[in-house]
Amino acid sequence: MAATKDTSLPERNKGWYQEDLTEVNEPIRKLLESYSRVPSAEVVKHVNQIRERGFASNPYPCIGLYRFLNLTLLTHPLYDTILKRLQSPDATYLDLGCCFGQDLRQLVQDGVPSQRLIGLDVEGPLMQTGYDFFLDRATLQSRFVVADVFKGAAQGTAWTDLEMRGIDVLHCSAFFHLFTLAEQISAAKNVAKLVKTGGLIVGRQIGSVKPGDVPAIKEGSSSYRHDVETFDAMWRRVGEATQTRWEVGGTMDMVGINPQSPVEDENSRRLLFTVTRVA
Ligand SMILES: C[S@@+](CC[C@H](N)C(=O)[O-])C[C@H]1O[C@@H](n2cnc3c(N)ncnc32)[C@H](O)[C@@H]1O
Repeated sequence: MAATKDTSLPERNKGWYQEDLTEVNEPIRKLLESYSRVPSAEVVKHVNQIRERGFASNPYPCIGLYRFLNLTLLTHPLYDTILKRLQSPDATYLDLGCCFGQDLRQLVQDGVPSQRLIGLDVEGPLMQTGYDFFLDRATLQSRFVVADVFKGAAQGTAWTDLEMRGIDVLHCSAFFHLFTLAEQISAAKNVAKLVKTGGLIVGRQIGSVKPGDVPAIKEGSSSYRHDVETFDAMWRRVGEATQTRWEVGGTMDMVGINPQSPVEDENSRRLLFTVTRVA
């Protein structure tokens, strides 16, 4: 994968800024054409412009490598169940670490009233760019909350309002894998307090057939990659610490995994998970 030499950001040349796309995958094209009314001939240019802007504000691999174009939730085995659940007027969906909010827009396109959907990210500019990506600033009634998962209730009503409201479906993709195991547990304890009994946490992240630490994108730091068993063990620890109980299900496969990519290797797998709060 080629990285550009044209550089004002050092991250461009670390391998997670790929050349501009010349075509985009069908599901995101469909969403941009039908939900955002981007003319067919403009879609690729529009995507490239948004990637450029997003990377300039936050040079993450998921932006540089266009991973934000994968509509993960749509491929989750419980997608139809989630759609049905969100038809209930008191249901709430939270996309944690939502970035541009692409999965949230897909739910709106599939008929979920947008006021039942909330996006949350520590980086406000990414959520603002999301409005320009999907051209829905004037129409979308979802709320976007700038908050830090690690700070939880300590940051006040931005978080405690969510705890009081209670979340039915919490989507959390490409989030936990950014952190060490200790950090993941600390974040998950805060996340646990948001979800109603009977509620779901669903998502995808980079897993590994050899669970353990790998170097993270910030030099000198590491992050922990799970398999289904270690993810289950993590949620058991979180349950004990928060007096809640969780059932973990998941699968590992090669969808969207590129062992040659700077952020993956031959042990990497896509971990697609469902964590259900049972008590
Ligand atoms: C790798 S991106 C994944 C984005 C999106 N969920 C997806 O699957 O395309 C991780 C996101 O988590 C957000 N994030 C990182 N640390 C966070 C924190 N402490 N609290 C809330 N969001 C955070 C980042 O700003 C970024 O948008």
